[in-house]
Amino acid sequence: MDLIVTTAGQPSACVVQTAKQMAAALNAPFVERNRQSLAAIREQYKVSNIIVAAVDGPIVHTSNGEYFFHLSMAELRIKNLLNGKHDHMVAAMGLAAGMSVLDCTLGLATDAIVASFVTGESGQVVGLESSPIIALITRLGLQNFALEPQPEYDITSALRRIKVENADYFQYLLAVPDCSFDVVYFDPMFRQPIYKSSNLQPIRNLADNRSLTPEAVEQACRIARQKVVIKEAAGSGEFSRLGITTIVGGKYSSIQYGIIDCHADKAAGGQL
Ligand SMILES: C[S@@+](CC[C@H](N)C(=O)[O-])C[C@H]1O[C@@H](n2cnc3c(N)ncnc32)[C@H](O)[C@@H]1O
Repeated sequence: MDLIVTTAGQPSACVVQTAKQMAAALNAPFVERNRQSLAAIREQYKVSNIIVAAVDGPIVHTSNGEYFFHLSMAELRIKNLLNGKHDHMVAAMGLAAGMSVLDCTLGLATDAIVASFVTGESGQVVGLESSPIIALITRLGLQNFALEPQPEYDITSALRRIKVENADYFQYLLAVPDCSFDVVYFDPMFRQPIYKSSNLQPIRNLADNRSLTPEAVEQACRIARQKVVIKEAAGSGEFSRLGITTIVGGKYSSIQYGIIDCHADKAAGGQL
């Protein structure tokens, strides 16, 4: 793997231990920082990616910039929902408390956090991520990220409930029994990146950039009790390639959601 793991300067024993654990988990070398700059480490070891373990959590330095676990738009979206505002993803999924969601493209888990908050304690959100680095950073963030406690809502519990699997969604879907989740969700890397979406920019070289296949959609429909939902850039051509005709989203939004109503298909005894 094009990666080494090190620590911030003057690390505590605990940070060194965390760095070594991450290196072992990713099968990557651990390198003592020894007051070296990251540029010097990159040059010496000829790697593009460096994970720096620090007290506040790991930071991944890639050739496209640095990234670390953060809530991105999740907190604002949750606050908007609590204020009665519309969320296109939640509406497309038809999400409610107690539902289960398989997020096949977990990434930074922004969408999964919103889904976990809405589905609540009685619900279930499982996130699949094929990139080992992204899966590890997101798993650690979901386990450890500390929010200021808010009396009106509990986002921390929504983070902690999400189960992360480092897996390719197609291989995973093949092994899941029929009708195992209410909603199966895909948010693949867009064919034409929206560069305004800068929070995905640093993970672009780490992420799995393959497009969604009809075979994966077919498996998702087999597994979904209610819906398969796919997020795509507006006007991308992916929905028509995949034969999806129900498309929702904001009138002026650069993002749309394609919906397959698997419940109706199954009730009609239709071919999936
Ligand atoms: C656009 S990002 C998802 C962003 C996510 N919805 C969020 O809210 O942060 C797509 C992610 O899906 C992952 N991915 C792409 N193909 C995959 C596959 N076959 N199996 C699992 N993960 C995959 C990529 O590595 C990337 O991290």
